[in-house]
Amino acid sequence: MRVLLTGAAGQLGQALIASKPAGVELIATSRLGGEGRAELDLANPEACRASVQAYRPDWVLNAGAYTAVDKAESKPELTQAVNAEAPRAFAEALAALDRGPSGQGRLLQLSTDFVFNGEQGRPCRPDQALDPLGVYGASKAAGEAAALALPGARVLRTSWLYGPVGKNFCLTMLRLHRERSATGQPLAVVADQVGCPTATHTLAAACWRAIGVGLEPDAEGSLPRIMHWSDAGVASWYDFAVAIGELGVVAGLLERAARVLPLTTADYPTPAQRPSYSLLDCSSSRAALGLEPLHWRAALAEVLSSSELNASR
Ligand SMILES: NC(=O)c1ccc[n+]([C@@H]2O[C@H](COP(=O)([O-])OP(=O)(O)OC[C@H]3O[C@@H](n4cnc5c(N)ncnc54)[C@H](OP(=O)(O)O)[C@@H]3O)[C@@H](O)[C@H]2O)c1
Repeated sequence: MRVLLTGAAGQLGQALIASKPAGVELIATSRLGGEGRAELDLANPEACRASVQAYRPDWVLNAGAYTAVDKAESKPELTQAVNAEAPRAFAEALAALDRGPSGQGRLLQLSTDFVFNGEQGRPCRPDQALDPLGVYGASKAAGEAAALALPGARVLRTSWLYGPVGKNFCLTMLRLHRERSATGQPLAVVADQVGCPTATHTLAAACWRAIGVGLEPDAEGSLPRIMHWSDAGVASWYDFAVAIGELGVVAGLLERAARVLPLTTADYPTPAQRPSYSLLDCSSSRAALGLEPLHWRAALAEVLSSSELNASR
C-alpha cells in the first residue's frame, strides 16, 4: 500500500513515520522538505494535485494543517487554504486518478474537536452537527466537507494532541515546571475547559487502522466515514498540567514539579474562543477500529518515558 503523508514534520506526522507498518510504502512530505521528506506546500492546491498525479497513492494521509489556533484568527486566508483547500485538491485529484482495477485513491483527513461549539455538556458523537467557534475550527470543518466529497474519504477527529516531539502543551508544561520550580514560582493554568488529552502514538495507531491496516476486509468495509479518536477519561488543562508535573518527576524528567494554580478562561483571554467542553464520543469508532483506549494518564506516562523525548532533553 502506497501512502502519501502530509505534515510529516509535525507531531502526528513524526509518530506516523515512527510507527509505519510493514507493507506500507510511505512518501513523507512537509512544507520545507528535507530529512528524507519531499517538499509539498499545502497552501498551494496545484502542488497538492500534482503530488497525487505524480505518486498515485492508495491513500493520502493528510496530517498537515495550519494548527496555530490563535494566529489563525488573523490569518483566515492562509488557514482556509491549508486546512480546507488542500483537502479539496486532494479529494478532486484522487477522484480523477484512474488507478486501474484498484479504483481511485483514498483520503484520510485528520480533524479536530474544535469543529464543535462545546455547549452541549456531553461528549459529541461523530454524526452531530458542526458549529465551530473560530477560524481554525471553521477551516477544519470546511476541510472535512471537502474531503468527504470523495466517496473513499474518511475523517478522523481527535482532541488535545501532544507527544514527545514538536510543539505541544505537554512539552511547554515540562519546560515551565522546570523553570518555575527552580525559582519557586507557581504556574497558572485554565481549569474551566475540559476535554481529553490524546497522545500522538495512540492516534497514529488509530490512523493506520482507519486506512485498513490490521483490519479484515469486512471490518474495513464497515468503518464509518467519520470517526473520533481520543485517549480515555476527562481532564481540564489544569489537571493535565498537574499530571505532567507529577509524572514528569516519576519519569526522571523533572527534579520537582512547580505548584499549579487554577485559572478561569476569563483570566486568560486568547484571540480564539475555545470550546469549554471538548470531549469526543469515541465509543463507536473504537469498536469499529478494534482498538482499546488507554486512560490519558497511562498514555502520558508512556510519552514521558519514551526514548524520543528523553533523547531531546
Ligand atoms: N495539536 C492538536 O492539539 C490537535 C487537536 C485536534 C486535532 N488536531 C489535528 O491533528 C492533525 C495533526 O496535528 P499536529 O498536532 O500533528 O500538528 P502540527 O504538529 O502543528 O503539525 C502540522 C504540520 O503541518 C505543517 N504545515 C502547516 N502549513 C503547511 C503548509 N502550508 N504546507 C505543508 N505543511 C504545512 C506544519 O509544518 P510547518 O510547521 O513547517 O508549517 C506541521 O509540520 C491536524 O489535522 C490537526 O488539525 C490537532
